[in-house]
Amino acid sequence: MILAVTGNDINLAKETLVKGGLVAIPTETVYGLAGNALDEKAVLSIFEVKNRPAFDPLIIHTDSVEKVMHYVSDFPEKARRLAEKFWPGPLTLLLPKKTVIPDLVTSGLDSVAVRIPNHPLLLELLKRLDFPLAAPSANPFGYISPTNAAHVNAQLGEKIPYILDGGESRVGIESTIVGFENNETIIYRLGGLAVDDIEQVIGKVTLMPNSSSDPKAPGMLKSHYAPRKPFFLQNEVISKSGNEQTGYLLFDKYLEGVSHANQRVLSFNSDMQEAAHNLFAYLRELDALPVEQIIAERVPARGLGLAINDRLQRAAAH
Ligand code: TXA
Ligand code: MG
Repeated sequence: MILAVTGNDINLAKETLVKGGLVAIPTETVYGLAGNALDEKAVLSIFEVKNRPAFDPLIIHTDSVEKVMHYVSDFPEKARRLAEKFWPGPLTLLLPKKTVIPDLVTSGLDSVAVRIPNHPLLLELLKRLDFPLAAPSANPFGYISPTNAAHVNAQLGEKIPYILDGGESRVGIESTIVGFENNETIIYRLGGLAVDDIEQVIGKVTLMPNSSSDPKAPGMLKSHYAPRKPFFLQNEVISKSGNEQTGYLLFDKYLEGVSHANQRVLSFNSDMQEAAHNLFAYLRELDALPVEQIIAERVPARGLGLAINDRLQRAAAH
């Protein structure tokens, strides 16, 4: 298998992007597959490389609110307060788009998803670009998102010229997507910024039910984030001693009577941040084990636990 060139050369990343090429980029949430968001050809190739349906729109990334103002026609008060508090960070805002953003980026929707990511190498790259980067997670459509350069290389290495390697993604789970309609604030996708933290800044928000596969509520596709092996989610995993054909994803302790080699524990300290950080990497490891199926247990529904359970549920719906 051919692997992509990997390194931390910001100039090479910039040159590739300026020429209309794609570069895998590190972010604090997950790795992204980035191209010039203002260049329709580059955007089209993102959809092709990911094998992603055109009705699933992309997030654009930039490094300052000043630049964001070139791409959105309105920035409501509540959005501003969230941006002030949480950017750069794992927060994506849905805002009405200006016409410079190609319809291809938003799948024809009037709003564009915008985020200022919190990763030093990426922020430096964004600072040197005079266009925003459209970047979905750098995985084939429907598979688990990558949280390090090796994950990207394993699946998309043959298809992209360069991976900007910024180490492991600290947060480990995609950004929280927030939109504003009438007077309501709506969470379209649970993610790396906890709902509680958002509510502390702007008050009550509404959660989108996560069952929809309606293209008008993209980001909500049920079958996202799935491993290849049959995957089951349980409220609590009870030890089935001696079952060596199953891989287990557990919250804070091993199952007794099952080989530790087939188990991954998200956080022995019951720490939700650590659990989110480990989630996708552990799912990949379990998927690669010589087991026939994977069983995961739901984590407590607090803080980032909501987003973790959301991803597990979608994986199980595959
Ligand atoms: O943390 C993240 O958000 C990562 C990193 C790379 O920034 N990106 C990411 O992108 O997760 P992606 O494409 O895998 O997921 C973005 C989700 C999509 O499911 C899409 O449907 C939703 O955002 N989305 C994008 N634009 C939208 C819009 N205008 N309205 C509603 N949903 C939108
Ligand atoms: Mg994705």
